[in-house]
Amino acid sequence: MALPLQSNWNYPTAIRFGAGRVAELAGMCRSLGMARPLLVTDPALARMKLVLDAVSRNEAAGMPTRIFSDIQPNPIGADIDAGVAAYASGGHDGVIAFGGGSALDVGKVIAFMAGQSRPLWDFEDKDDWWSRADVGAIAKVVAVPTTAGTGSEVGRAGVILDETEGRKKIIFHPGMMPAIVVMDPELTVGLPPHVTAATGMDALSHCIEAYCAPGFHPMADGIAVEGARLVRDWLPRAFADGTDLEARGNMLIAAAMGATAFQKGLGGMHALSHPIGALYKTHHGLTNAVLMPYVLAFNRPAIEERISRLAAYIGLPRPSFAGLLDWVLQLREDFSIPHTLGGLGVGEDRAGQIALMAQADPSAGGNPVRFDSEAARRVLECAFEGRVETR
Ligand SMILES: NC(=O)c1ccc[n+]([C@@H]2O[C@H](COP(=O)([O-])OP(=O)(O)OC[C@H]3O[C@@H](n4cnc5c(N)ncnc54)[C@H](O)[C@@H]3O)[C@@H](O)[C@H]2O)c1
Ligand SMILES: [Fe+2]
Repeated sequence: MALPLQSNWNYPTAIRFGAGRVAELAGMCRSLGMARPLLVTDPALARMKLVLDAVSRNEAAGMPTRIFSDIQPNPIGADIDAGVAAYASGGHDGVIAFGGGSALDVGKVIAFMAGQSRPLWDFEDKDDWWSRADVGAIAKVVAVPTTAGTGSEVGRAGVILDETEGRKKIIFHPGMMPAIVVMDPELTVGLPPHVTAATGMDALSHCIEAYCAPGFHPMADGIAVEGARLVRDWLPRAFADGTDLEARGNMLIAAAMGATAFQKGLGGMHALSHPIGALYKTHHGLTNAVLMPYVLAFNRPAIEERISRLAAYIGLPRPSFAGLLDWVLQLREDFSIPHTLGGLGVGEDRAGQIALMAQADPSAGGNPVRFDSEAARRVLECAFEGRVETR
Protein backbone atom coordinates (compact mmCIF):
# COMPACT_ATOMS: atom_id res chain seq x y z
CA MET A 1 0.00 0.00 0.00
CA ALA A 2 1.35 3.41 -0.93
CA LEU A 3 2.00 5.72 2.00
CA PRO A 4 -0.64 8.43 2.41
CA LEU A 5 0.78 11.96 2.22
CA GLN A 6 -0.31 12.74 5.76
CA SER A 7 -1.82 10.92 8.70
CA ASN A 8 -2.82 11.93 12.21
CA TRP A 9 -2.78 9.26 14.89
CA ASN A 10 -3.52 9.50 18.58
CA TYR A 11 -1.85 6.27 19.63
CA PRO A 12 0.30 5.89 21.69
CA THR A 13 0.32 9.72 21.70
CA ALA A 14 -0.58 12.43 19.18
CA ILE A 15 1.46 11.71 16.04
CA ARG A 16 1.48 13.99 13.04
CA PHE A 17 2.94 12.03 10.15
CA GLY A 18 3.90 13.33 6.72
CA ALA A 19 6.59 15.01 4.64
CA GLY A 20 6.95 18.70 5.45
CA ARG A 21 4.89 18.61 8.64
CA VAL A 22 7.70 20.13 10.68
CA ALA A 23 6.36 23.40 9.27
CA GLU A 24 3.48 23.01 11.76
CA LEU A 25 5.82 23.04 14.76
CA ALA A 26 5.00 26.52 16.10
CA GLY A 27 1.27 25.80 16.01
CA MET A 28 1.79 22.54 17.85
CA CYS A 29 3.84 24.25 20.56
CA ARG A 30 1.18 26.90 20.91
CA SER A 31 -1.57 24.27 21.21
CA LEU A 32 0.29 22.95 24.27
CA GLY A 33 0.50 26.40 25.84
CA MET A 34 4.15 27.07 24.98
CA ALA A 35 5.26 30.61 24.17
CA ARG A 36 9.03 30.24 24.65
CA PRO A 37 10.21 26.67 24.05
CA LEU A 38 13.73 25.36 24.55
CA LEU A 39 14.81 23.30 21.52
CA VAL A 40 17.07 20.46 22.67
CA THR A 41 19.26 18.86 20.02
CA ASP A 42 22.84 17.59 19.60
CA PRO A 43 25.86 19.72 18.63
CA ALA A 44 26.05 18.40 15.03
CA LEU A 45 22.35 18.91 14.33
CA ALA A 46 22.45 22.37 15.95
CA ARG A 47 24.52 23.51 12.95
CA MET A 48 22.35 21.81 10.32
CA LYS A 49 19.74 23.47 8.17
CA LEU A 50 16.87 21.32 9.41
CA VAL A 51 17.27 22.65 12.96
CA LEU A 52 18.14 26.23 12.00
CA ASP A 53 15.10 26.36 9.69
CA ALA A 54 12.83 25.09 12.46
CA VAL A 55 14.09 27.82 14.80
CA SER A 56 13.68 30.59 12.24
CA ARG A 57 10.17 29.39 11.34
CA ASN A 58 9.24 29.52 15.04
CA GLU A 59 10.73 33.01 15.37
CA ALA A 60 8.82 34.15 12.28
CA ALA A 61 5.66 32.80 13.91
CA GLY A 62 6.34 34.98 16.97
CA MET A 63 7.69 32.16 19.12
CA PRO A 64 11.20 32.85 20.42
CA THR A 65 13.08 29.52 20.51
CA ARG A 66 16.50 29.00 22.07
CA ILE A 67 18.74 26.00 21.27
CA PHE A 68 20.40 23.81 23.89
CA SER A 69 22.84 21.34 22.31
CA ASP A 70 25.59 20.77 24.84
CA ILE A 71 25.10 16.98 24.96
CA GLN A 72 27.08 13.76 24.39
CA PRO A 73 26.21 10.94 21.94
CA ASN A 74 25.56 8.66 24.93
CA PRO A 75 24.11 11.43 27.12
CA ILE A 76 25.31 11.80 30.71
CA GLY A 77 23.87 13.25 33.92
CA ALA A 78 25.82 16.50 33.52
CA ASP A 79 24.04 17.09 30.18
CA ILE A 80 20.73 17.04 32.03
CA ASP A 81 21.97 19.40 34.77
CA ALA A 82 23.20 21.88 32.15
CA GLY A 83 19.93 21.60 30.21
CA VAL A 84 17.77 22.12 33.30
CA ALA A 85 19.86 25.20 34.14
CA ALA A 86 19.41 26.55 30.58
CA TYR A 87 15.67 25.88 30.78
CA ALA A 88 15.37 27.82 34.03
CA SER A 89 17.62 30.75 33.10
CA GLY A 90 15.90 31.18 29.71
CA GLY A 91 12.44 31.29 31.29
CA HIS A 92 11.21 28.49 29.03
CA ASP A 93 7.78 26.92 29.19
CA GLY A 94 8.19 23.71 27.22
CA VAL A 95 10.68 21.60 25.28
CA ILE A 96 11.09 20.72 21.62
CA ALA A 97 13.18 17.52 21.62
CA PHE A 98 14.68 17.48 18.12
CA GLY A 99 17.11 14.82 16.90
CA GLY A 100 18.13 11.21 17.28
CA GLY A 101 17.60 9.14 20.41
CA SER A 102 20.31 11.03 22.27
CA ALA A 103 18.71 14.46 21.82
CA LEU A 104 15.19 13.11 22.30
CA ASP A 105 16.13 11.40 25.56
CA VAL A 106 17.88 14.50 26.88
CA GLY A 107 15.01 16.78 25.84
CA LYS A 108 12.44 14.56 27.52
CA VAL A 109 14.48 14.22 30.72
CA ILE A 110 15.13 17.99 30.89
CA ALA A 111 11.37 18.61 30.62
CA PHE A 112 10.80 16.02 33.33
CA MET A 113 13.51 17.30 35.68
CA ALA A 114 12.82 21.04 35.16
CA GLY A 115 10.37 21.14 38.07
CA GLN A 116 11.55 18.29 40.34
CA SER A 117 13.29 18.78 43.68
CA ARG A 118 14.87 15.31 43.95
CA PRO A 119 18.09 14.38 42.11
CA LEU A 120 17.93 12.72 38.68
CA TRP A 121 19.03 9.24 39.76
CA ASP A 122 16.10 9.02 42.20
CA PHE A 123 13.94 8.44 39.13
CA GLU A 124 15.74 5.40 37.77
CA ASP A 125 13.31 2.79 36.47
CA LYS A 126 13.19 0.68 39.62
CA ASP A 127 10.14 -0.54 41.50
CA ASP A 128 7.77 2.43 41.75
CA TRP A 129 10.45 5.13 42.00
CA TRP A 130 8.65 7.06 39.26
CA SER A 131 5.87 7.79 41.76
CA ARG A 132 8.29 10.06 43.66
CA ALA A 133 7.88 12.70 40.96
CA ASP A 134 5.82 15.86 41.13
CA VAL A 135 3.62 15.12 38.12
CA GLY A 136 2.25 18.65 37.82
CA ALA A 137 5.77 20.03 37.38
CA ILE A 138 6.58 18.01 34.25
CA ALA A 139 6.96 20.32 31.26
CA LYS A 140 5.33 19.51 27.91
CA VAL A 141 7.39 18.08 25.06
CA VAL A 142 7.02 18.12 21.29
CA ALA A 143 9.29 15.39 19.90
CA VAL A 144 10.79 15.60 16.42
CA PRO A 145 12.80 12.48 15.51
CA THR A 146 15.55 12.86 12.91
CA THR A 147 16.70 9.23 13.02
CA ALA A 148 14.49 6.18 12.64
CA GLY A 149 15.58 3.77 15.33
CA THR A 150 15.17 4.35 19.04
CA GLY A 151 11.49 5.32 18.94
CA SER A 152 12.22 7.52 21.96
CA GLU A 153 9.66 9.97 20.56
CA VAL A 154 6.88 7.60 21.67
CA GLY A 155 8.62 6.34 24.81
CA ARG A 156 8.18 7.16 28.47
CA ALA A 157 11.86 6.92 29.36
CA GLY A 158 15.28 8.38 28.68
CA VAL A 159 18.55 6.47 28.79
CA ILE A 160 21.18 8.53 30.63
CA LEU A 161 24.70 7.48 31.60
CA ASP A 162 25.45 7.95 35.30
CA GLU A 163 29.03 9.12 34.83
CA THR A 164 30.00 8.52 38.46
CA GLU A 165 28.83 4.88 38.43
CA GLY A 166 29.74 4.33 34.75
CA ARG A 167 26.31 2.78 34.13
CA LYS A 168 23.48 3.64 31.72
CA LYS A 169 20.30 4.21 33.71
CA ILE A 170 16.75 4.30 32.44
CA ILE A 171 14.91 7.34 33.78
CA PHE A 172 11.21 6.56 33.64
CA HIS A 173 7.95 8.33 34.20
CA PRO A 174 4.64 7.82 32.36
CA GLY A 175 4.39 11.62 32.06
CA MET A 176 7.57 11.69 30.01
CA MET A 177 5.66 10.60 26.90
CA PRO A 178 5.84 13.54 24.45
CA ALA A 179 2.49 15.30 24.02
CA ILE A 180 2.93 15.61 20.24
CA VAL A 181 5.28 13.83 17.81
CA VAL A 182 6.17 15.28 14.42
CA MET A 183 7.06 12.38 12.17
CA ASP A 184 8.43 14.06 9.08
CA PRO A 185 10.37 11.79 6.69
CA GLU A 186 12.08 14.78 5.04
CA LEU A 187 14.04 15.31 8.28
CA THR A 188 15.76 11.92 7.98
CA VAL A 189 16.84 12.33 4.34
CA GLY A 190 20.31 13.61 5.30
CA LEU A 191 21.06 10.71 7.62
CA PRO A 192 24.19 8.97 6.24
CA PRO A 193 23.74 5.31 5.14
CA HIS A 194 25.75 3.83 8.02
CA VAL A 195 23.65 5.71 10.62
CA THR A 196 20.49 4.78 8.71
CA ALA A 197 21.49 1.12 8.97
CA ALA A 198 22.57 1.23 12.62
CA THR A 199 19.45 3.06 13.80
CA GLY A 200 17.21 0.83 11.66
CA MET A 201 18.76 -2.24 13.27
CA ASP A 202 17.93 -0.73 16.67
CA ALA A 203 14.27 -0.60 15.59
CA LEU A 204 14.51 -4.23 14.49
CA SER A 205 16.11 -5.25 17.77
CA HIS A 206 13.22 -3.59 19.66
CA CYS A 207 10.65 -5.48 17.57
CA ILE A 208 12.42 -8.85 17.91
CA GLU A 209 13.25 -8.54 21.61
CA ALA A 210 9.75 -7.33 22.52
CA TYR A 211 8.17 -10.13 20.49
CA CYS A 212 10.37 -12.75 22.19
CA ALA A 213 10.00 -11.35 25.73
CA PRO A 214 8.08 -13.89 27.81
CA GLY A 215 5.18 -11.75 29.14
CA PHE A 216 1.59 -12.11 27.90
CA HIS A 217 1.00 -9.06 25.71
CA PRO A 218 -0.60 -9.90 22.36
CA MET A 219 -1.02 -6.20 21.48
CA ALA A 220 2.71 -5.58 21.78
CA ASP A 221 3.40 -8.78 19.82
CA GLY A 222 1.19 -7.62 16.96
CA ILE A 223 2.90 -4.25 16.78
CA ALA A 224 6.33 -5.89 16.94
CA VAL A 225 5.80 -8.26 14.01
CA GLU A 226 4.41 -5.55 11.74
CA GLY A 227 7.29 -3.27 12.76
CA ALA A 228 9.75 -6.02 11.78
CA ARG A 229 8.00 -6.42 8.43
CA LEU A 230 8.39 -2.69 7.73
CA VAL A 231 12.10 -2.98 8.52
CA ARG A 232 12.46 -5.92 6.14
CA ASP A 233 10.66 -4.12 3.32
CA TRP A 234 12.07 -0.62 3.76
CA LEU A 235 15.41 -0.49 5.59
CA PRO A 236 17.43 -1.74 2.60
CA ARG A 237 15.74 0.91 0.43
CA ALA A 238 16.38 3.73 2.91
CA PHE A 239 19.99 2.55 3.10
CA ALA A 240 20.40 2.42 -0.70
CA ASP A 241 18.67 5.74 -1.40
CA GLY A 242 18.40 8.18 1.48
CA THR A 243 16.08 10.43 -0.53
CA ASP A 244 13.40 7.73 -0.85
CA LEU A 245 10.70 9.41 1.24
CA GLU A 246 8.47 6.35 1.23
CA ALA A 247 11.27 4.26 2.71
CA ARG A 248 12.18 7.00 5.20
CA GLY A 249 8.54 7.36 6.27
CA ASN A 250 8.05 3.64 6.72
CA MET A 251 11.22 3.41 8.80
CA LEU A 252 10.04 6.24 11.08
CA ILE A 253 6.85 4.27 11.62
CA ALA A 254 8.77 1.03 12.24
CA ALA A 255 10.91 2.79 14.87
CA ALA A 256 7.85 4.11 16.70
CA MET A 257 6.31 0.63 16.55
CA GLY A 258 9.43 -0.98 18.03
CA ALA A 259 9.39 1.40 20.99
CA THR A 260 5.66 0.95 21.51
CA ALA A 261 6.10 -2.83 21.50
CA PHE A 262 8.97 -2.81 23.97
CA GLN A 263 6.75 -1.60 26.78
CA LYS A 264 6.43 -5.41 27.02
CA GLY A 265 10.16 -5.86 27.62
CA LEU A 266 13.52 -6.15 25.87
CA GLY A 267 16.21 -8.80 26.29
CA GLY A 268 19.83 -9.85 26.01
CA MET A 269 20.76 -7.56 23.10
CA HIS A 270 19.89 -4.48 25.14
CA ALA A 271 21.16 -5.93 28.43
CA LEU A 272 24.57 -6.24 26.76
CA SER A 273 24.55 -3.14 24.60
CA HIS A 274 23.82 -0.81 27.54
CA PRO A 275 27.04 -1.70 29.43
CA ILE A 276 29.06 -1.87 26.20
CA GLY A 277 27.80 1.63 25.28
CA ALA A 278 28.60 2.87 28.77
CA LEU A 279 32.15 1.47 28.77
CA TYR A 280 33.16 1.97 25.12
CA LYS A 281 30.83 4.78 23.92
CA THR A 282 29.79 2.64 20.94
CA HIS A 283 26.66 3.57 18.97
CA HIS A 284 23.61 1.92 20.54
CA GLY A 285 21.94 0.57 17.39
CA LEU A 286 25.22 -0.60 15.90
CA THR A 287 26.03 -2.49 19.10
CA ASN A 288 22.63 -4.21 19.03
CA ALA A 289 23.17 -5.11 15.38
CA VAL A 290 26.50 -6.78 16.18
CA LEU A 291 24.99 -8.71 19.09
CA MET A 292 21.70 -9.69 17.39
CA PRO A 293 22.62 -13.08 15.83
CA TYR A 294 24.49 -14.25 18.94
CA VAL A 295 21.61 -13.45 21.29
CA LEU A 296 19.08 -15.02 18.89
CA ALA A 297 21.19 -18.17 18.66
CA PHE A 298 21.58 -18.36 22.43
CA ASN A 299 17.80 -18.01 22.90
CA ARG A 300 16.91 -20.50 20.18
CA PRO A 301 15.43 -23.28 22.37
CA ALA A 302 12.91 -20.83 23.81
CA ILE A 303 12.00 -18.89 20.66
CA GLU A 304 12.28 -21.27 17.72
CA GLU A 305 8.54 -21.54 17.10
CA ARG A 306 7.82 -17.83 17.63
CA ILE A 307 10.64 -16.81 15.34
CA SER A 308 9.46 -19.20 12.63
CA ARG A 309 6.07 -17.49 12.76
CA LEU A 310 7.76 -14.09 12.54
CA ALA A 311 9.88 -15.26 9.59
CA ALA A 312 6.73 -16.37 7.78
CA TYR A 313 4.89 -13.12 8.52
CA ILE A 314 7.66 -10.85 7.27
CA GLY A 315 7.85 -12.90 4.07
CA LEU A 316 11.25 -14.57 4.32
CA PRO A 317 11.84 -17.26 1.69
CA ARG A 318 12.63 -19.79 4.45
CA PRO A 319 10.01 -19.29 7.20
CA SER A 320 12.12 -20.82 9.95
CA PHE A 321 14.49 -19.85 12.74
CA ALA A 322 17.46 -20.57 10.48
CA GLY A 323 15.87 -18.48 7.73
CA LEU A 324 15.52 -15.47 10.05
CA LEU A 325 19.05 -15.85 11.36
CA ASP A 326 20.41 -15.96 7.80
CA TRP A 327 18.41 -12.85 6.92
CA VAL A 328 19.86 -10.96 9.91
CA LEU A 329 23.40 -12.05 8.99
CA GLN A 330 22.86 -10.98 5.38
CA LEU A 331 21.45 -7.59 6.41
CA ARG A 332 24.50 -6.95 8.62
CA GLU A 333 26.80 -7.87 5.77
CA ASP A 334 24.93 -5.68 3.27
CA PHE A 335 25.21 -2.75 5.71
CA SER A 336 28.92 -3.40 6.43
CA ILE A 337 28.18 -3.90 10.13
CA PRO A 338 31.07 -5.60 11.96
CA HIS A 339 30.58 -9.30 12.67
CA THR A 340 32.42 -9.32 16.00
CA LEU A 341 32.59 -7.10 19.06
CA GLY A 342 36.30 -6.67 18.33
CA GLY A 343 35.22 -4.96 15.11
CA LEU A 344 33.47 -2.37 17.29
CA GLY A 345 36.60 -1.75 19.36
CA VAL A 346 35.32 -3.66 22.39
CA GLY A 347 38.08 -5.43 24.36
CA GLU A 348 37.76 -9.03 25.55
CA ASP A 349 39.58 -8.11 28.75
CA ARG A 350 36.43 -6.49 30.13
CA ALA A 351 34.06 -9.35 29.24
CA GLY A 352 33.63 -10.30 32.91
CA GLN A 353 32.67 -6.75 33.86
CA ILE A 354 30.27 -6.43 30.89
CA ALA A 355 28.61 -9.75 31.83
CA LEU A 356 28.02 -8.65 35.43
CA MET A 357 26.60 -5.32 34.27
CA ALA A 358 24.36 -7.12 31.75
CA GLN A 359 22.96 -9.32 34.48
CA ALA A 360 22.05 -6.21 36.49
CA ASP A 361 20.53 -4.36 33.50
CA PRO A 362 16.72 -4.14 33.63
CA SER A 363 16.49 -5.46 30.03
CA ALA A 364 17.95 -8.81 31.14
CA GLY A 365 14.64 -9.67 32.81
CA GLY A 366 12.88 -9.68 29.40
CA ASN A 367 15.16 -12.26 27.84
CA PRO A 368 13.29 -15.50 27.07
CA VAL A 369 16.13 -17.56 28.55
CA ARG A 370 17.50 -16.65 31.99
CA PHE A 371 20.15 -14.02 31.31
CA ASP A 372 22.55 -14.12 34.24
CA SER A 373 26.23 -13.25 34.03
CA GLU A 374 27.05 -16.83 32.98
CA ALA A 375 24.65 -16.56 30.02
CA ALA A 376 25.98 -13.13 29.13
CA ARG A 377 29.55 -14.53 29.23
CA ARG A 378 28.60 -17.25 26.75
CA VAL A 379 27.01 -14.81 24.33
CA LEU A 380 30.01 -12.49 24.63
CA GLU A 381 32.41 -15.33 23.93
CA CYS A 382 30.60 -16.11 20.66
CA ALA A 383 30.38 -12.40 19.79
CA PHE A 384 34.14 -11.97 20.23
CA GLU A 385 34.92 -15.10 18.19
CA GLY A 386 32.25 -14.47 15.54
CA ARG A 387 30.72 -17.88 16.22
CA VAL A 388 26.94 -17.98 15.69
CA GLU A 389 26.25 -21.11 17.63
CA THR A 390 22.73 -22.46 17.93
CA ARG A 391 22.00 -24.96 20.63
N1 LIG B 1 14.51 6.22 25.08
C1 LIG B 1 14.58 5.03 24.55
O1 LIG B 1 13.65 4.27 24.65
C2 LIG B 1 15.81 4.61 23.82
C3 LIG B 1 15.80 3.42 23.08
C4 LIG B 1 16.94 3.06 22.40
C5 LIG B 1 18.07 3.88 22.45
N2 LIG B 1 18.07 5.02 23.19
C6 LIG B 1 19.22 5.92 23.26
O2 LIG B 1 19.27 6.66 22.06
C7 LIG B 1 20.63 7.01 21.76
C8 LIG B 1 20.96 6.66 20.33
O3 LIG B 1 20.13 7.38 19.46
P1 LIG B 1 20.32 7.33 17.87
O4 LIG B 1 20.62 5.95 17.46
O5 LIG B 1 19.16 7.99 17.25
O6 LIG B 1 21.66 8.16 17.65
P2 LIG B 1 22.08 9.65 18.03
O7 LIG B 1 20.93 10.44 18.52
O8 LIG B 1 23.26 9.54 18.92
O9 LIG B 1 22.50 10.22 16.59
C9 LIG B 1 23.51 9.58 15.84
C10 LIG B 1 24.22 10.57 14.93
O10 LIG B 1 23.37 10.94 13.85
C11 LIG B 1 23.37 12.36 13.69
N3 LIG B 1 22.06 12.70 13.11
C12 LIG B 1 20.85 12.58 13.68
N4 LIG B 1 19.88 12.92 12.83
C13 LIG B 1 20.49 13.30 11.67
C14 LIG B 1 20.01 13.75 10.41
N5 LIG B 1 18.71 13.84 10.14
N6 LIG B 1 20.92 14.03 9.46
C15 LIG B 1 22.26 13.89 9.70
N7 LIG B 1 22.76 13.45 10.87
C16 LIG B 1 21.88 13.16 11.85
C17 LIG B 1 23.60 12.91 15.08
O11 LIG B 1 24.11 14.20 15.05
C18 LIG B 1 24.60 11.89 15.62
O12 LIG B 1 25.89 12.23 15.23
C19 LIG B 1 21.48 6.26 22.78
O13 LIG B 1 21.89 7.15 23.79
C20 LIG B 1 20.55 5.22 23.34
O14 LIG B 1 20.86 4.86 24.66
C21 LIG B 1 16.93 5.39 23.84
FE1 LIG C 1 17.48 0.19 21.56
